[in-house]
Amino acid sequence: MNLIHTPAWQALATHAASLRSRHLRELFAEDTQRFTRFSRQHDGLLLDFSKQRITADTYHLLLGLAAAADIDGWRQKMLDGEAINHTEGRAVRHVALRAGNNAPPEVRAVLERMKTCCESIHSGTWRGYTGERITDIVNIGIGGSDLGPRMAARALAAQQQPDLRVHFVANVDSADIAPLLARLNPRSTLFIIASKTFTTQETLINAATARAWLLAAAAGDEAAVARHFIALSTAREQTRAFGIADDNVFEFWDWVGGRFSMWSAIGLSLALAIGWRQFEQLLAGARAMDEHFASAPAADNLPLILALLSVWNTHFLGARTAAVLPYSQSLERLPAYLQQLEMESNGKQTDREGQPLSGIACPVVWGEPGTNGQHSFYQLIHQGGQLIPCDFIALTASDFPLHSHHPSLLANCLAQSAALAFGQTAEEVRAAGVPENLLPFKIFPGNQPSTTLLLPTLNAWTLGQLLALYEHKTFYLGALWNINSFDQWGVELGKTLARRIEPLITQTGDDSAFDASTRGLLAALGGR
Ligand code: F6P
Repeated sequence: MNLIHTPAWQALATHAASLRSRHLRELFAEDTQRFTRFSRQHDGLLLDFSKQRITADTYHLLLGLAAAADIDGWRQKMLDGEAINHTEGRAVRHVALRAGNNAPPEVRAVLERMKTCCESIHSGTWRGYTGERITDIVNIGIGGSDLGPRMAARALAAQQQPDLRVHFVANVDSADIAPLLARLNPRSTLFIIASKTFTTQETLINAATARAWLLAAAAGDEAAVARHFIALSTAREQTRAFGIADDNVFEFWDWVGGRFSMWSAIGLSLALAIGWRQFEQLLAGARAMDEHFASAPAADNLPLILALLSVWNTHFLGARTAAVLPYSQSLERLPAYLQQLEMESNGKQTDREGQPLSGIACPVVWGEPGTNGQHSFYQLIHQGGQLIPCDFIALTASDFPLHSHHPSLLANCLAQSAALAFGQTAEEVRAAGVPENLLPFKIFPGNQPSTTLLLPTLNAWTLGQLLALYEHKTFYLGALWNINSFDQWGVELGKTLARRIEPLITQTGDDSAFDASTRGLLAALGGR
């Protein structure tokens, strides 16, 4: 069903035409209850969307759009395990991974094995091939097999287990793995090869390098591999072919999408970094958000609100990008994680029926932690003339309390969202005594919409809650646009071409099937 032809969409289009020229200054002046009207609290999380360019009418119409798109029906299909990833014939059940006592037996069994594995490494029971204790873990994976655990391990540095360092390698560029191996000791290093398919080129090349490095140190003793390699995968045949013992394989299932997989065995590196109890807290925080997602009425459903605001900003107000600005250094990898989650899920132009969409479903997601971004790209958001909706994410209490740092950080966060919303008028600039010739440069147009998310603090539970919030936003956005958020065919063409090009990089060969630019570049690289 193409939403664009529904009365709800048409009503929003008419409404948007009258609202587009209105300024947040006016909207705030008109409605003294704006913060109360457009903020929601749930389980300690505060979502303030009063600085979005909406009115009560907009909100009402957006909720009508959600109903027209049957978001309740789609959510139920997902929770019931229907194969809503229809192009791959797969169910979408990442919620089941963190369902606690209600999780399927196979999920609980793998979690139990992960727990035992963590305990044996943390306690020093797990030993390397010479009997040394494991001091370093290297997660080798890419995309969904890297971004989640890497981001979360960084975010939860305050919970870092003592005496164990966890590293992440993703890029096929040897500049990623080589300097790391140079400072590690093979006798005390454990590699986790994280790959759902176990066919991903980058991961297999890095894994082969790690294996060769280990075997070189172990005088070719293949038995060493069993003590130093773990696989996280759905592909048992491939893990066996690589030489990883079945006992060291932690499985998950095809109904877990790569970018939704950090709650599965893919989270093992994270669990090792923060400890099993904290990992369980992460799952519990996500579970609490799952319950909210499944049961909160539409008008109070936090992930739905985020998705509806995205449709409003992207389609009706014309934004092309969306910034994620965590005022938390610990969340520095969150924008990268959300890039995959949101853009690989909803960066699509075809609806479920294979028809072209009549709009852009997903903006370009980008961002950096504040306050660093303020000294870099905020100039453009303030005065660059482009509509850039922002998500500000802040913590009421610091995860690393120290002197006056946190009040200063929070003050900057609040100041930026206010400056972006309300700007600075010519009158205000004049009143500040600015000479007339500098006036044009000192005016801030404002009217940049933003949402502020306030977490009580950053810990495993609140992180789980935050990530599940964005996962469900991603789901709702796909449901609103009637797209399949769970496939990613757009990444395949480049992979296929790379396989065809690679032999020509190292050897002369027939390149006539390629375009003139590719041939020219191959020639410059010396491969012809
Ligand atoms: O190329 C994209 C992708 O398929 C992602 O969806 C996935 O997270 C990543 O590659 C890694 O895949 P795998 O876990 O199978 O190695």
